[in-house]
Amino acid sequence: MFDQAIYHRLLTTRRLGKILEIVEEVDSTNTYVAAKYELRKESSLVVLAERQTQGRGRFGKIWESFPEESLTFSFPWQAPKSLLAPNVVTLAIGVALAEAVSGVASCDAALKYPNDLYLGDKKAAGVLTELKGTGDNRFAIIGVGVNVNNKTSRFDDEEVRQKAISIKEATGKNISREEVLALFFNYAEPLLDALLTDGVKTVIEKYRKLTNVIGREVIVTGAGEPIVGVAEEIAITGALVVNMNGTRKTVVSGEINFAKSSPRRSA
Ligand code: BTN
Repeated sequence: MFDQAIYHRLLTTRRLGKILEIVEEVDSTNTYVAAKYELRKESSLVVLAERQTQGRGRFGKIWESFPEESLTFSFPWQAPKSLLAPNVVTLAIGVALAEAVSGVASCDAALKYPNDLYLGDKKAAGVLTELKGTGDNRFAIIGVGVNVNNKTSRFDDEEVRQKAISIKEATGKNISREEVLALFFNYAEPLLDALLTDGVKTVIEKYRKLTNVIGREVIVTGAGEPIVGVAEEIAITGALVVNMNGTRKTVVSGEINFAKSSPRRSA
């Protein structure tokens, strides 16, 4: 059982994550939080589900999780009017997630552009940010799924089984979900505040240090014609710059996969 008392003891935020609602089963925490937030603008709300019947990943993929073992949650964030795309929010959340996971599990966590948390060469968590509303009523719903203590061999999808890892599998340690969630919000709050006050600079500088894509050959799909090239840099706008035979292509969304010929660099 998720222990609210432990979570609240570790949470040091002013606002983010202060009201934790735990639900046994829901279709998708992103859908549930969006509906709640539209009714009552509660910016401290976070909803954690033990089970999702329609958990969503990016590009219409299914996100599978396991009760008591995975961490599956969503929360709203009042976005500035100027925010036209969710990508920098996703990058900020990735940074907070990497800081929290490496802090709790004492391991190196990296970010595969834009939203995947990697431990070694496998994915341990993903972020789905959805922008809702218009004008002054613009908000983001941020959904995070983390493989914490689950066995990834139990995933239904063969492709997911090949790519995924849990923090427990990567470290050999049982990990406290309460600690991961509290630390995540402790790191996320200043980063999201920085997006509002100073723009994207702080987030991008941190993201650049954590990403595992630079210098590697990548294949970008899902955003028009596939792009195959070497990931060169994270631009200050948050876009990924890919060098495709000498032409620099800017990628802001899409799915990035490593080419088989591009092994992970040791840190
Ligand atoms: C991805 O890697 O494709 C993103 C995965 C995001 C999954 C989380 S789990 C909580 C929230 N609710 C959902 O339906 N999706 C997100």
